[in-house]
Amino acid sequence: MNSSRETRRVAIFDTTLRDGEQTPGITLTPDRKVKIAEMLGELGVDTIEAGFPVISRGEEEAVKRIVEMGLNARVVCLARTDERDIDTAIRCGVKSIHTFIATSEIHLRHKLRMTREEMLEKTTRAIEYARSRGLRVEFSAEDSTRTEIDFLVEVARRVKEAGASTFDIADTVGTATPEMMEEYVRRIADGAGIMVSAHCHNDFGLAVANSLAAVSAGASQVHVTVNGIGERTGNTSLEEFVMACMNLYGFTTGINRAALYRASNLVSETTGFPVPCNKAIVGKNAFGHESGIHTHGILSEPSTYEPFDPATVGRQRWLQAGKHAGRHGIEAQLRMMGIHLSSEEIDSVVRKVKEIGDRGHAVSDQELKGMAMSQSDTYEMYMSPAGGHDNDADNAVKKSAFLTATVGSREHVEVASGSDDRQAARRALKGLSKWMESEFGEGRDMGDGAETRNVADSHKGQQAVE
Ligand code: KIV
Ligand code: ZN
Repeated sequence: MNSSRETRRVAIFDTTLRDGEQTPGITLTPDRKVKIAEMLGELGVDTIEAGFPVISRGEEEAVKRIVEMGLNARVVCLARTDERDIDTAIRCGVKSIHTFIATSEIHLRHKLRMTREEMLEKTTRAIEYARSRGLRVEFSAEDSTRTEIDFLVEVARRVKEAGASTFDIADTVGTATPEMMEEYVRRIADGAGIMVSAHCHNDFGLAVANSLAAVSAGASQVHVTVNGIGERTGNTSLEEFVMACMNLYGFTTGINRAALYRASNLVSETTGFPVPCNKAIVGKNAFGHESGIHTHGILSEPSTYEPFDPATVGRQRWLQAGKHAGRHGIEAQLRMMGIHLSSEEIDSVVRKVKEIGDRGHAVSDQELKGMAMSQSDTYEMYMSPAGGHDNDADNAVKKSAFLTATVGSREHVEVASGSDDRQAARRALKGLSKWMESEFGEGRDMGDGAETRNVADSHKGQQAVE
């Protein structure tokens, strides 16, 4: 690791409340924005872009209220390069604005219908106006990465002369590569001598990599959003960027990593935008293990299959019983539930878990507990009517149920699906009675000790392991 990197602190400019809110389908009330701003304050971001106040009254109210919260973070808002937007920002009470205009030929010709010089004149006039009103100015060149680099350096020089403090390279349609990003950052920093920032979109899944490349090349700030929300495929994900930045690159940030998971949950709940299970750092599966080989490793030394301690980001690891699970994992899961079985009993539970797995179902903690408990009695059936969700060919969610029956030395697991809990349970019962018939003959008495227990849906909250 490069020692100069270790001492570098990267400023986190959070745009969850602006670009994040521009995610198709997300729209936040001022109250919700305030709630998220509180969390961003707790996270320790350096800058909060609270919104784009000129677009609506609610947006203006939200920005005002966030300014009034008196957070440690600098509160900025977005403004186009014109006086109306800047005056609205001033009315909101911000001390700093984020202004932008497109610089690429594509945007100049087809959207702005301006020449380069007209665009530059408009931009420098607006920056000078904002500066004359006492505002600090961060400037973003929209579509920077499709702007000819020599011209972009010229833009950076001119906005610096006009009084902008930061030049933000916006990879507006996510077409940059890490190599390109490095070149753009170096050329702007060397050619214009201005503080450089990066604003990356994730159209090719490269937003985090491009932001890291920008920082490696000398950018001192990165625009991010919680859960990576934002226009189209989103922006650089705050949690992924911060963790990679600090753990892999050795840069520092002011982010309180232990609050990352809470922030992710809050933003997901408040925006109604789900976090994919396999999302790095904050996805449900980020610290979940099923494979026997992995679980064995984790139980003996967590670093074998985890890049860092989940507690760092406010999380816990958990184990999933399923067909990939091994004896070690299942035994450990049971031990954590306070269940201690003999070696044969564990073998029997593992067999059942694998059998259920082969039929396409994972086993929840409650279901595992049910199976383990059925080991000790002669006749018991554990039923999990809402034990899982399956998607059928039409992608319709179905409920699954399974029944585990132990009759003397015979064991049987019956799995069935249905459109709801009751249908799934009824089908499982039917299947089980067929098995009983074939094994013990019609109407065969199972004895007085036979018992059926209903195990409630327990796919929520798998067993956490330390
Ligand atoms: O993606 C983009 O170009 C933007 C600008 C407003 C900076 O969000
Ligand atoms: Zn953007």
